[in-house]
Amino acid sequence: MKDSYGRVIDYMRISITDRCNLRCRYCMPDGIKSIPMEQILTLEEIAEVCRIASELGITKFKVTGGEPLVRKGCMELIRMLKALPYTEQVTLTTNGILLAAYAKELKEVGIDGVNVSLDTLCAEKFAEITGYDRLKDVLEGIRTAHMLGLKVKINTVLQKGVNEGEWEALLQIAKETPIDVRFIEMMPIGHGSRKASVSNQELLEKIRGKYGEMTEEAKKQQSGGRGAFSGHGNGPAVYYQIPGFQGSVGFISALHGKFCDSCNRIRMTAEGFIKPCLCYDTGISIKEAVRNHQPEEVRRLLVQAISEKPEAHCFEKKEEITEKREMSRIGG
Ligand code: GTP
Ligand code: 5AD
Ligand code: SF4
Repeated sequence: MKDSYGRVIDYMRISITDRCNLRCRYCMPDGIKSIPMEQILTLEEIAEVCRIASELGITKFKVTGGEPLVRKGCMELIRMLKALPYTEQVTLTTNGILLAAYAKELKEVGIDGVNVSLDTLCAEKFAEITGYDRLKDVLEGIRTAHMLGLKVKINTVLQKGVNEGEWEALLQIAKETPIDVRFIEMMPIGHGSRKASVSNQELLEKIRGKYGEMTEEAKKQQSGGRGAFSGHGNGPAVYYQIPGFQGSVGFISALHGKFCDSCNRIRMTAEGFIKPCLCYDTGISIKEAVRNHQPEEVRRLLVQAISEKPEAHCFEKKEEITEKREMSRIGG
């Protein structure tokens, strides 16, 4: 289905839980209360919304959290999404803590890609950023998933004064393995701050300074004609090839490279709230409709949410950002 700006909406991010086994300061600092389980959609309800969404043209699903692997039945849900007749891809974004334990099952259920958050390769810094001394588990998760042949990408949020120098060490992963390393500009959503955000433009210059000229990878035209995506995924990342590297370096530049023109997505929170844009709190709850077994109503609400999708985010004007939920409740 197209939105009112002509963008083809064929990708849905589903936050299956607001719970997480880490406490990244910019996402879910200590003290945040979890949503009571009865307010959260069951996996069957999530699958039912996705089934209806797929009939409206959603062909790609991203399973997120909180941390999706802490929710029991996550594998079963992925299996259900993969089994929908129009599904082209189901991918997962995880913090990697439970990845080693689930990698084999993820492969068995047919996951099409796994994005793993990793902001540092220094154990102490990892504990400082995430609240837990678990770097080893994440690295083990990445290694296991990669060894099993899963397509893995690393997501790194660089923060001024915290881990801005880590890009050099993290890029070694892309040098030595065919794993893409992507740098995400911190967005002023939830506990994220614009001030702490490292500019990807500046980072690109630093990487060029070290590795010389890099080629930006060509993008594929989006099916509906508006916007284009890289061959690496369905998201806003722009990728470059560094000579001699097996993986690519990617940039998700929400602040310095607005990509809303080619936006292809809607989001669903764990409570069944359909969010047309990350930046605003507007959207529609489909919880009641799906709980009351009203597929036609779910369909109508999904269509309405897509048609109300705003043209662009407003991260550059803080006062216009209306989204107040934590990132852990949105799913990134
Ligand atoms: P793939 O490349 O297809 O795997 O997807 P992705 O990069 O969209 O997914 P991922 O879950 O790894 O998200 C990476 C980062 O991109 C997170 O920080 C998200 O918050 C951010 N992101 C994803 N979609 C959007 C979007 O529509 N707008 C903005 N501003 N940021 C987004
Ligand atoms: N800005 C940008 N990325 C964020 N993430 C969490 N909070 C923010 C933010 N404020 C990232 C996580 C994870 C992905 C799903 O979203 O680091 O990699
Ligand atoms: Fe958990 Fe990911 Fe948020 Fe960190 S960024 S607290 S790992 S949901």
